[in-house]
Amino acid sequence: MRKTLTQIYESRVASGDLRADPAQHAVLPALDSLRDWLEQNASRKIGLFAGLFAKPITPPKGLYLWGGVGRGKSMLMDLFTDAVAIPNKRRVHFHAFMQEVHHGLHAARKRGAEDALAPVADAMTRDLRLLALDEMQITDITDAMIVGRLFQLLTAAGVVIVTTSNRPPEDLYKDGLNRALFLPFIAQLREKLDICELESPTDYRQHRLTGAQVYFHPAGKAGPALTAIWSDLTGGAPGEPLNLPVNGRTVTLPRFANGVARATFWDLCAKPLGPADFLAIAQNTRVLILEDIPQLSASNYNEAKRFVTLIDALYEAKVRLIASAADIPERLYIEGAGSFEFERTASRLREMQAADWGG
Ligand SMILES: Nc1ncnc2c1ncn2[C@@H]1O[C@H](COP(=O)(O)OP(=O)(O)OP(=O)(O)O)[C@@H](O)[C@H]1O
Ligand SMILES: [Mg+2]
Repeated sequence: MRKTLTQIYESRVASGDLRADPAQHAVLPALDSLRDWLEQNASRKIGLFAGLFAKPITPPKGLYLWGGVGRGKSMLMDLFTDAVAIPNKRRVHFHAFMQEVHHGLHAARKRGAEDALAPVADAMTRDLRLLALDEMQITDITDAMIVGRLFQLLTAAGVVIVTTSNRPPEDLYKDGLNRALFLPFIAQLREKLDICELESPTDYRQHRLTGAQVYFHPAGKAGPALTAIWSDLTGGAPGEPLNLPVNGRTVTLPRFANGVARATFWDLCAKPLGPADFLAIAQNTRVLILEDIPQLSASNYNEAKRFVTLIDALYEAKVRLIASAADIPERLYIEGAGSFEFERTASRLREMQAADWGG
C-alpha cells in the first residue's frame, strides 16, 4: 500500500531511526502534495512540450527549504525524492549541478550558440520532472544570473525544483559585489519556489556525534569505526567525488555525501593544495573524516604545513573532524622546523574532539 511521506516519517520514528521532530513533521504535507502532483502528471507532456492543442498544465511551485545546519533538510529532501514514484527525477549537489551547467555552456558557446543557456536547459528538461538540489549557495553574480534564468526555463518546461539551503533567499550572496544585480534573482526564486524554514532547534548531526569517539590512534585499526560513522551520518550512501571550483581550478574531495567528506591525509596534504583550497573544502563540508595522519617531522615538512593550514580552515569554519592518526595530537610533530607552530594545531585537534564542538 502506498504510504504518505508523513506515514513514512512516522514509521521511521517508530523504528527508532529518527526522533520525532514537530518542525520536520510540519514540512511533510507540502512535500506530500508536490509528490501527489508529480506522480499524477509525470507522464503528461507539460509546458513547452505540450503541443499546440493540449491544455496547458502549470506545475506547482517548488520548495526552498532552509534552516541551520543538521536540522534535517537533506534528510527530508531525500525522503521525498526517494518516495516520488516517477522515473524522471534527479537529486544532485548544487556544486555538481553548476559544474555541469558550466560545461554545457562552454560546449554550446564553442558550437557558436547565440543563447548558450537555452540548449543546456533543453537537454536537461528532456527527461526531467523533478530536480532536487542540495545545498544551494550563490557566491558570484554570474552564477546568480545563470541560475535565475535556468530556473525560469526549467519551470516553464514543467520541472519542479526542490532545494535546501542554510540561508533564506534574501541572505544568499549577502555581502557580495554588485548586490543590486542580485535582487531580481531573489524575486525569481520567490516566484518559482515556496520558501519554507525548517525551524527545528536540534542539530541532529551534532547530536549523533555527541559522546562518540572522534579521534582514533593508531590509525591502522580505525577503518571499521570510521566506516560506521560515515554510514550513520550519510544513511549508508556510497558517496561520490565532489569537485569544488577554486579560482578557476577544481579541488576534488574523493568521497562526499550529505555534507560529510571522507579522505586520507595523503589525498589532501600530499598534493599541492593551498589555503584557498582548504578554505573551499572547509566551507563545503560539515564533517571531515580524515584517515591516516602520519607521524610528521622535518622530512615531510610540506605535508605538515598543509595539514596545519587544513586544520586552521576546518577550525575556523567549525567543521567536525573525525580522524585516525599515528599518535595523539601532541606527539604527531615533535621535532624539526615548525614543531613549535604545530603546538597550536595539536591544541586545536584536542579542542575539536570535545563533545560540544562545532555545529
Ligand atoms: N529527526 C531526526 N532524528 C534523528 N536523526 C536525524 C533527524 N533528522 C535528521 N537526522 C540526521 O541528522 C543528520 C543531519 O541531517 P541533514 O543532513 O538532513 O541536515 P541538514 O539540515 O541537511 O544540514 P546541513 O545544513 O548541514 O546540510 C543526518 O545524519 C540525518 O540523518
Ligand atoms: Mg544538508
